[in-house]
Amino acid sequence: MSESSRDHWRERSRIWARTAPRGRAEDDSFNQMIIAEAAIRPGEAVLDVASGTGNPAVSIALALDGRGSVTCGDLEPAMLEAARGRAANLSLSVMRFAAADMTRLPFRDGTFDCVICRFGIMFPGDRVAAAREALRVLRPDGRAAYLVWGAYADNPPFHVPRRTVAAFFGEDEGPVPARHSMSAPGTLAAMLDAAGFARAEERELRYRNRVEDPRDYVVRGLRRTFAKKIETLAPERIAALERALLAAWDPYKARCCRCPTVPASASAGNRHERRAPDVKGMSRARPCPNDCTLQAGTPVGRRER
Ligand SMILES: C[S@@+](CC[C@H](N)C(=O)[O-])C[C@H]1O[C@@H](n2cnc3c(N)ncnc32)[C@H](O)[C@@H]1O
Repeated sequence: MSESSRDHWRERSRIWARTAPRGRAEDDSFNQMIIAEAAIRPGEAVLDVASGTGNPAVSIALALDGRGSVTCGDLEPAMLEAARGRAANLSLSVMRFAAADMTRLPFRDGTFDCVICRFGIMFPGDRVAAAREALRVLRPDGRAAYLVWGAYADNPPFHVPRRTVAAFFGEDEGPVPARHSMSAPGTLAAMLDAAGFARAEERELRYRNRVEDPRDYVVRGLRRTFAKKIETLAPERIAALERALLAAWDPYKARCCRCPTVPASASAGNRHERRAPDVKGMSRARPCPNDCTLQAGTPVGRRER
């Protein structure tokens, strides 16, 4: 089933809702990154498109500190229900919810100060139309910020489990998933440019995810991503698969502080009138000899009108 299809996300929403955090995000790094990239401030009206179970909307609501609003939009209502539960658990009165296809947003022109999208813009068939819709609902001096995944080969959290599970079942790994379809440098900036944004900038990010408990990391990933595949496996076969996954991770683990970390790469693209804060400030805020948090690379594409 294609990742661009509604049925794909309807099916995924069941497991996403079940495994979503109950309140704050477990790993907030990407959320804080996009908040900094878009320079979101208390009092603003923010739209988070393809918000899924509320990332980064919940972190944005916390950053708004009771002033302004963040509208959580997604194609799939079951995803939004999970986000709504998180907002209720954290008593976040600034959160709103809207079932919304990002290529046809149900909002008037010029409604928002900021439009955000974390790991969602890769999926609609017409991405430029989605970016044009973001531009339409933004106020004239508004900003947008997008995060997309980097190359499959640069993202062990995706390819290690997929390859290992395929090998375990003696199957072919299949094509590179659509989530990596905007990984070529400059793709994001080119999309924003084609949609008519005034200034588009893209930069590559390098990220290391801190893993407190590698076994728990493997088991949760397996239950979340491969739930259907393993539902008929006998317990001893599942245990064997978990051992294979733990072993497959070994070459990618690096020690950071007291915890192993796993690497990932992504790109961020934005358009803004004012200068966004220097995102490298985040690494300085959490000093670590092994760069265990997000690293902003040099811009890989920049367009100005
Ligand atoms: C990979 S998830 C990302 C969710 C969330 N932003 C996060 O980072 O956890 C992609 C989300 O995009 C949503 N989606 C896919 N196509 C969409 C579209 N055309 N309009 C709005 N949402 C869409 C899916 O329902 C799913 O929740």
